[in-house]
Amino acid sequence: MCGIIGAISYRNIVGILLDGLRRLQYRGYDSSGLAVMDLTGELIRLRRLGGVQNLINAVENTVLSGSIGIAHTRWATHGKPAEINAHPHISFDISIVHNGIIENYQSIYRQLKVWGYTCLSETDTEVVAHLVHWEGQKGGSLLEVVQRVLPCLRGTYGMVILDSRMPDRLIAARSGSPLVIGCGIDENFIGSDPIALLPMTRRLIYLEEGDVAQITSSSIMIFDRSGNSVHRCEITSNIQHDAGNKGAYNHYMQKEIYEQPRVIKKRLKGHLRNNKINFPELGSENEILLKNLQHIQIVACGTSYNAGMVAKYWFESFIQVPCDVDIASEFRYRQPVVRHNSFLITLSQSGETADTLAALRLSKKMSYLGSLAICNVPSSSLVRESDLVLMTQAGSEIGVASTKSFTTQLTVLLMLLAKISYLKGMKPEIEKSIVDALKVLPYRINQMLLQNELMVDLAKDFIHKENVLFLGRGAQYPIAMEGALKLKEISYIHAEAYAAGELKHGPLALIDNNMPVIVIAPDNKLLEKIKSNIEEVRARGGLLYVFTNAQFGCSNIERMRIISLPYVEDITTPISYIVPLQLLSYHIALLKGNNVDQPRNLAKSVTVE
Ligand code: AGP
Repeated sequence: MCGIIGAISYRNIVGILLDGLRRLQYRGYDSSGLAVMDLTGELIRLRRLGGVQNLINAVENTVLSGSIGIAHTRWATHGKPAEINAHPHISFDISIVHNGIIENYQSIYRQLKVWGYTCLSETDTEVVAHLVHWEGQKGGSLLEVVQRVLPCLRGTYGMVILDSRMPDRLIAARSGSPLVIGCGIDENFIGSDPIALLPMTRRLIYLEEGDVAQITSSSIMIFDRSGNSVHRCEITSNIQHDAGNKGAYNHYMQKEIYEQPRVIKKRLKGHLRNNKINFPELGSENEILLKNLQHIQIVACGTSYNAGMVAKYWFESFIQVPCDVDIASEFRYRQPVVRHNSFLITLSQSGETADTLAALRLSKKMSYLGSLAICNVPSSSLVRESDLVLMTQAGSEIGVASTKSFTTQLTVLLMLLAKISYLKGMKPEIEKSIVDALKVLPYRINQMLLQNELMVDLAKDFIHKENVLFLGRGAQYPIAMEGALKLKEISYIHAEAYAAGELKHGPLALIDNNMPVIVIAPDNKLLEKIKSNIEEVRARGGLLYVFTNAQFGCSNIERMRIISLPYVEDITTPISYIVPLQLLSYHIALLKGNNVDQPRNLAKSVTVE
């Protein structure tokens, strides 16, 4: 995780570094720092604990100005969030910012101690600065020194190095953590994400795995892992980045929840015609892959995993295509067996989640028919490395808690379901019922958003609770999982989701008169089953909150509150029912005074394993 920006220019780059860090904060916000060669030729390092604003405030109290520098915003992996652990790390003239994890840092540290170095931080990064310094004493340019050091490192890195004795160049190295060069006129930039560079340039060069680059204000040289000079294509990015503006909303998460009807409508536009789903972006030549698949393997993490779980219910029950869903960090190490004619689908908002990317790369060595990424960030590694891509087009999602990326992933998955159904020559009614439900989905979500005041009121019941159970059945079980995840991550209340039928196999022991149980119970073929589960909780004194559009014969009875929701089509129920749960978590977090957009210990994009 963490975010990196480096700049070398003819102009003052301090503001560029700080603005870049502000844009990169979604990758981590424990602490931040920069190192800049000032106009007198002195290297100035400033670091601050907490969000980037603390660093901006610190810089404002100085007259710092310089034309070469590196900067970093951190999500702690090794070493607690503290100023001493913030990047850049320095060893004499060498400064470094690093994303990733150096797995063998302890053995390097032992060797450095023998050579007389002392590490001041608890990080895995500082050893690299010392190693570069040690190796530099043997001679050679900074580029050559870094090329000699890299084979000693195990793990992942995207790093940028500045030597204050050679303030005309930056050296960047990539292995397992992305870096992109921004090309300017008499100035160049490097960042872990193009969004940090877009205010300066749209001309981008992505480094490939193993690449090392030397960047000056007027030249860019790139070498592959073997040290050969290589050419990497320059692209002109058309990425739109609207991160800066919360509009009329108090938080990004709130804005993103309310954007859902609009972004879904936009995603559907032009794709629903004559009761059919058109996916021109897939290319007709690839349709044969989808037609032939006999099994789907979904891999994802967190909220994206929960979307995959919903899709499993859909694929199996509507088109009888067997589907397995794996958490990416499990998939990559469990030696999965590839089923006959299996097709891999990765789901990711960011497209940079380390485990999901690793799973995709692993799958390429296996016998999958192909891979499809359903993703929100067009410039991401996942998009660039997948065979087929369907963008969710949700627009920038800044709040750490995923909301619109989840519902747009589900929308795209439903469109895909309809497409596969058509390609496989299944009953036209399946495709028609999906198209009909999708057409009214933005309206249905709007109706759910009208429940906001109800959620404000409900939130009061939860602020002093320490545990909450979520129950669902069928495709609502993953919605219970997603509801619980939303509550945990922004309200810090422990929440667990269970398939309601599992209750009596253990969790029922948790029920007492202080345990709130949120039940997702839309009016569908499983309603009577879930009503029985509700009775099991009631009989043991549990505190029930039932989200439903069914008639329960009462609005509220003792210890059971019915949250009456508007009608939704059966197939799109999971998409609609998550919306009130997102609102509920948002209001609980708000009442608890938590940082809704940047909850503690988390980052938006998880680029380390
Ligand atoms: C959910 O609210 C989280 N922020 C998190 O679980 C997220 O979904 C997960 O890290 C996966 O991210 P991705 O979709 O960018 O791959």
